[in-house]
Amino acid sequence: MSAAPDRRVAVVTGGARRLGRHLCLSLATRGYDVVIFYRSSDDDARTLEEEIAAAGHRARAVKVDVADKHAVAAAFAGIGAAEGRVDLLVNNVGNYNPQDVTALDPDVWDETIAANLSGAYYCCHGALTLMPDGGNIINIGMAGLEGIRANTRGADYYVSKTGLLVLTRALAAAYAPRQIRVNMVSPGQLENSVDLPPADEISRWVPMGRSGTLDDIAQAVHYLLDATYVTGQNIDVAGGYRL
Ligand SMILES: NC(=O)c1ccc[n+]([C@@H]2O[C@H](COP(=O)([O-])OP(=O)(O)OC[C@H]3O[C@@H](n4cnc5c(N)ncnc54)[C@H](OP(=O)(O)O)[C@@H]3O)[C@@H](O)[C@H]2O)c1
Repeated sequence: MSAAPDRRVAVVTGGARRLGRHLCLSLATRGYDVVIFYRSSDDDARTLEEEIAAAGHRARAVKVDVADKHAVAAAFAGIGAAEGRVDLLVNNVGNYNPQDVTALDPDVWDETIAANLSGAYYCCHGALTLMPDGGNIINIGMAGLEGIRANTRGADYYVSKTGLLVLTRALAAAYAPRQIRVNMVSPGQLENSVDLPPADEISRWVPMGRSGTLDDIAQAVHYLLDATYVTGQNIDVAGGYRL
């Protein structure tokens, strides 16, 4: 896939499955050539490439562990050669392997921070070298980051997402003069969540009384792409969670 100069290119990390896959499809429909970063889901990545091509759009899957800064640099060098630019980066990788903080394995800590936070930074670094003025970075966070309260399970995940919010704001301030906007979209409990409460209990936490859909998240991503005066913001898409 080689992008013509007038084509826009989006990179989505963790793009082969679940939310990332949905975002790849909706960004392709919006007209982006999509570069799908994935780690191990070869079959899903190929199927998605084919599905996007069959719909008349362009996609290229790239196998890259975002926690490996050399692999990320090589992947963006490849994009520089193949597509030539990055107009949008969506940092969607966000591994959640909750353990009680009193028993949190240091290796799990390292892996979570490496993939969710350092990996997002490596991708920002690589994408920004190829990003024209007016480009976008959208980081996927988690609902409730503002005024976060103690949670004894999943501290590594919450630290990674809080760090990603700090990075979002730093990059937004730094790149605003170039009209590059950096924002965060923070899902609440999605309908495919690994620890979704029973349907009759969800309204205890979510005032709107339902889990989020993948399309709820895509809507916020598309809003941010249209909202050309919005940067450094974090949007909870969570049905009123913690209101
Ligand atoms: N699902 C929810 O309820 C929920 C709630 C709040 C926030 N979020 C956030 O939404 C985002 C997407 O959630 P999800 O549940 O759809 O994600 P997910 O299924 O946990 O992960 C998406 C993909 O990330 C890829 N990945 C993981 N580590 C990687 C690495 N080191 N390098 C490259 N790719 C890697 C995996 O690719 P491979 O399959 O190729 O290995 C995986 O398919 C995450 O940031 C998550 O924190 C989700």
